[in-house]
Amino acid sequence: MKIRNIFNRLLLCAGVMGLLGGTVACNYLDIVPPEQVDVDDAMENYENALGFLYSCYAFSKNNSVGELPYGNYLSEINTTADDILNPHAWASDGSAARILLNTLSSQNAPDYWGHNYNGIGQCLLFLQKMDECQILERGVIDAATDREWRAEMKALMAYYHFVILRRYGPIAILEEKLPLDAPQSSFPGRYHFDYCVDWIVNQLDEAAADLPAKRDVAYMGRMTSTICKAIKAKVLLLAASPLYNGSFPYPDFKNTNWETPGYGQELISHTYDASKWNRAYAAANEAINWAENQGDRAIYRGNEYINANINLDDLYIPGGASDEFKAAVLRMRYLHYACENEGNREAIMTTIPDALTTQWFACFPKKIMQLNNGNMLSGYSGHNPTLFAVTHFLTENGLLPENDTDFTPESDWYKSAGLGADGADRDRIINLCVGREPRFYAWIGFDGGDYSLRIKDGEPVRLNMLDKDLQGYNTSTRDNSVTGFMTQKFMPPVMQIAKTNTYVGYVAPSRAVIRLAELYLIRAECEAQLGMTDEAIRDVNVIRERAGAKPLTASMIGAGGMSLLDWVKNERICEFFAEGKRYFDIRRYVEGDKYLGLGKRMGLNALAKENPSFEEFNQPTRLPYNYTWANKLYLYPIQYGDVYANPQLVQNPGF
Ligand code: GAL
Repeated sequence: MKIRNIFNRLLLCAGVMGLLGGTVACNYLDIVPPEQVDVDDAMENYENALGFLYSCYAFSKNNSVGELPYGNYLSEINTTADDILNPHAWASDGSAARILLNTLSSQNAPDYWGHNYNGIGQCLLFLQKMDECQILERGVIDAATDREWRAEMKALMAYYHFVILRRYGPIAILEEKLPLDAPQSSFPGRYHFDYCVDWIVNQLDEAAADLPAKRDVAYMGRMTSTICKAIKAKVLLLAASPLYNGSFPYPDFKNTNWETPGYGQELISHTYDASKWNRAYAAANEAINWAENQGDRAIYRGNEYINANINLDDLYIPGGASDEFKAAVLRMRYLHYACENEGNREAIMTTIPDALTTQWFACFPKKIMQLNNGNMLSGYSGHNPTLFAVTHFLTENGLLPENDTDFTPESDWYKSAGLGADGADRDRIINLCVGREPRFYAWIGFDGGDYSLRIKDGEPVRLNMLDKDLQGYNTSTRDNSVTGFMTQKFMPPVMQIAKTNTYVGYVAPSRAVIRLAELYLIRAECEAQLGMTDEAIRDVNVIRERAGAKPLTASMIGAGGMSLLDWVKNERICEFFAEGKRYFDIRRYVEGDKYLGLGKRMGLNALAKENPSFEEFNQPTRLPYNYTWANKLYLYPIQYGDVYANPQLVQNPGF
């Protein structure tokens, strides 16, 4: 059996969650202990107590109100940046449309703030019950477990605080449960961002000292010192980034009746401090060393395709490719599917998606084949790569298409590459999709190319994005690719659907919230910021080399207007395509207008009419929606009720 992580077991502790149900749905400060008897039952023996402990993790799942690294296919974080977009009608199913259309308000914003504080409350409740129920003294757990569980709660609470900080900016720090009769005037307000960072980092350092560096595969997902160090690197990267390091666009954002010790009423610094990059660098460096040594983590370089008996000839790469190149394509497809016990040790922190329809189905093209029962097999056709994503994957030469003099000139990108001799439909492949790096072919689906390897009863789907009765725009459904491209990052690599509608080869993805590759690119970013050119190039090339892409060289820096920092940022665009990182990366660099302003989201001309001609379809086109940007979207609005309940809490600017 493939074991992903402890979250698979959360179902087992559903009973405990039921007992504690009263803590889940309330205001974030309103952490009311449920009936004592029930909670105390939950601490009665080791199994129950462990189930209670697991329940504290439940708030970090990718559910519709939690922080969503990726996994929920309607999530704002996944689908409101500039790498993928969903069909427009879906956006209104969640809050994505409110971000895209700038109609988000403190009235209609989902309460991620409260959700994550409830997670913190659950941890505090667990700690309280460890004491009250005397589980150490009664021998329910031993001293080592007692120490570990306390550290685990500390780490988890630090993580929840980080999750709130990343989305909302300065946060209230919740270290102990407020008494039920606490007056409103005693509720904590928001602390200066840098103070929050120091507090979170300190908690992580303390927790790391009492946690194991790695866990048995059956316990993956639980906090480790390796996770603590990785989160610390992420926190400090955020803190060093322009948004919080001198470039926050609202100079007047301050507390009114609450002060942070040592900072007064200021909430975000307006002065650049270069040493924040040194601090982030040191944390990234330590996290990588720890992960690779004590934590047993490694960049995934496996070739699971061999076990799956994949014949490399079956993988179509327009223009042809070496076996080595094809192996890299498959490796990048397996990255999110190969398990720990298959040798994939890249995941540092994992989670699971919520019960919403699985993400692969949301990306899956429509009208794949007729099933024996007469129905058409159709996915939802979402997560459509934008032209921005498509044009920022590297070329075969490791450059951007626009700067690569060996690559087709931009004037011919949208013309046929003339590959008709490769078979029917191949003549529709455009030049932009020929001569690209392995990750492009691993994760992007394009007209005339192949989607997956065996999904269609053992065969790939040869995409036809023009024909309304195949994958093309069809007015009878809301499931149309808005850009003309498809995502195949979330497809189990060898999944096969038979005409009987039975699935073979489905495995759940690994859902790494943090993987080792991210730490390398965090360190590279710090190095680029600190002028450590050779080191930054080396770290970027760890990622490129694993992906089978050409290395970054010193001569590429500066060429085509690409600074070293631009290259590092571009590497994040490629490596983390569709993983929800762009949402934060754009905000960290205060680049909302640049990337998300009105008219920035582009695709092919995929929505103009049914059955367009090749020429009509293959034109760079602005999406026909008023997707836009406003600076207030740098920080998320705190729900009205939370601000109302706490006079110390100031709302974010613009809301
Ligand atoms: C469902 C609909 C699907 C797809 C999906 C997207 O309600 O039946 O066709 O549009 O929403 O979330």
